Amino acid sequence: MKILVINGPNINMLGIREVNIYGSKSYDKLLKLLDEVAAEENIEIEEFQSNHEGAIVDIIQKSYKKIDGIVINPAAYTHTSLAILDSLKAVSIPTVEVHISKVSEREDFRQINFIRDYAIKSFEGHGIEGYKKAIIHLKNYLKERKWNHL
Ligand code: DQA
Repeated sequence: MKILVINGPNINMLGIREVNIYGSKSYDKLLKLLDEVAAEENIEIEEFQSNHEGAIVDIIQKSYKKIDGIVINPAAYTHTSLAILDSLKAVSIPTVEVHISKVSEREDFRQINFIRDYAIKSFEGHGIEGYKKAIIHLKNYLKERKWNHL
């Protein structure tokens, strides 16, 4: 089982950016956590981070018939990107949304969310542990649906 974890703009700045909101754990720490989860859950995890909307659309398109499930934190693009939503719909790969902060309780401008209605599930406000929850949820979802190797 192959899961792609996509992170949007500024997630590479974890541990530096607004630590009161996003915590003190770095992006490298998140990558380490993903490696641990892959080993524990016996799945393959690919990681991708970009600050560019088109690059995120490209990686989603490239996932078609190659990736079983997507975990995505689109970061600021959550609130703006119809292009990312359309690419997720295009490839139709089961997708779980993650936010490090409790985004639904933050500013009004963060209440527009292009991804939530499409995602099979959203995790928010669990810090980087939310990624682990998202991956396990997605793994179980795929297994229940008698997922087969691509
Ligand atoms: C975020 C929340 C977004 O509103 C914000 O733009 C981010 C990170 C989160 O993980 O909490 O960059 O997606």
